[in-house]
Amino acid sequence: MHVPVAIIGAGPSGSLLAWILRQRGIESIVFENRSQAYVEGRIRAGVMEKNAVDLMIHAGIGDRLQKECMYQRGVEVGINNSHHFIDFEKLIGVGVTVYGQSEVTKDLLGALSNAGHNVLYETPVTGVSDHLGEEVTITYEEGGVEKTMTADFVVGADGYHGASRKSLPAGGIKMHENSYPLGWLGIMVKAPQSKPVAFFTYHDRGFALLSMRTPEVQRMYLQVSNDENLDEWSDDRIWDELDTRMGTEGWSLTRGEIFQKDLAPLRSFFCEEQRYGRLFLAGDAAHIVPPTGAKGLNSAFADVSVLSAGLIQHYTRNDSSILDQYSRLAVERNVQTQRFSWANTAKYHVFPGSNSFERRMQQAELEYLVTDEIAQTSYAKQHTGLPFAYWPEL
Ligand code: APR
Ligand code: PHB
Repeated sequence: MHVPVAIIGAGPSGSLLAWILRQRGIESIVFENRSQAYVEGRIRAGVMEKNAVDLMIHAGIGDRLQKECMYQRGVEVGINNSHHFIDFEKLIGVGVTVYGQSEVTKDLLGALSNAGHNVLYETPVTGVSDHLGEEVTITYEEGGVEKTMTADFVVGADGYHGASRKSLPAGGIKMHENSYPLGWLGIMVKAPQSKPVAFFTYHDRGFALLSMRTPEVQRMYLQVSNDENLDEWSDDRIWDELDTRMGTEGWSLTRGEIFQKDLAPLRSFFCEEQRYGRLFLAGDAAHIVPPTGAKGLNSAFADVSVLSAGLIQHYTRNDSSILDQYSRLAVERNVQTQRFSWANTAKYHVFPGSNSFERRMQQAELEYLVTDEIAQTSYAKQHTGLPFAYWPEL
């Protein structure tokens, strides 16, 4: 069997790409290791840049997003319990949108399923070969049986642990990686909002973040070590630590029922190229950022915007000029997002072993940020996101 485009992974990258190509009648098949329910239930960040929102709308999949999303005009910054608002909307005319990534996935997978799109769940890809040949071969396991298929192109949208990157020959693509001695303990809480915007706080005991999902569901995080034991964190201990890091005269967090707790280590990783012959890498398969700044989903959508534009141009106009620029354009944007996510992590977290000079300089940098309009404008531009180089013609 041969398909024009084989997509590995039905996360946000793979499902959005399949949906967009479908709008222009370009056939694709999606292989997904897990079940639809599992992919839809995965809790990830929930902040979308304006361009990511606009791409969903442009692709005709933004109705529920537009109805249910929450708009935030800026962020609040805490420096050892003093609070400062940075008004992105006033500075640059754009804020950010809150809409959980699991909602994005539900919209996309639901639409693909209603349209009868070929998404093979619980069907892991085990290998990709002939990247440089006339057609690429995909090996996958369906119902315990190994099968193969060929395609004009294969898109590795299979996340950090996927099979597509592993299929590359040694040295095929240069990669960079950095781990941090840090983790985030995240909670989902049934409670009303404590603030109208996300609140990023530096505290001598470590970073904390107050974010939200809906008016009734809040998301909060605490910096912990990267080998933390979740069992040692009772609800009371979490609330007390959040209060210590975030509270201030006249303001405290509104508590509620904690219905989920999770831990995530912080990591940076990226590929210097996002194409190898007939294999294109998109989203987490090509880059992982630490979560400070919530760039994961947004970078994935930026990749998909350019890649879908390139594939549409290739199939409808017999012109490969965008496709040929995909890797360069994607990496140029992603390396800047890596820089922002790394710098934003360094700004707010207390690194183990840091001395008092280093911690005081971190505070001084934040003090500069909250008092200088040019610094805030630059921060606002980075937070709200870089442009997408190409948009799919739909
Ligand atoms: N075969 C088929 N599917 C696979 C394989 C495989 N060998 N390996 C992994 N997958 C699937 C995973 O089960 C997952 O559903 O690929 C999908 C990859 O999805 P994500 O990890 O969500 O990555 P992506 O779609 O690029 O989305 C990026 O998700 O990880 C967050 O923060 C990140 O917000 C960002 C977004
Ligand atoms: C989230 O809501 O999960 C979130 C918000 C902002 C971030 C990271 C995560 O920077």
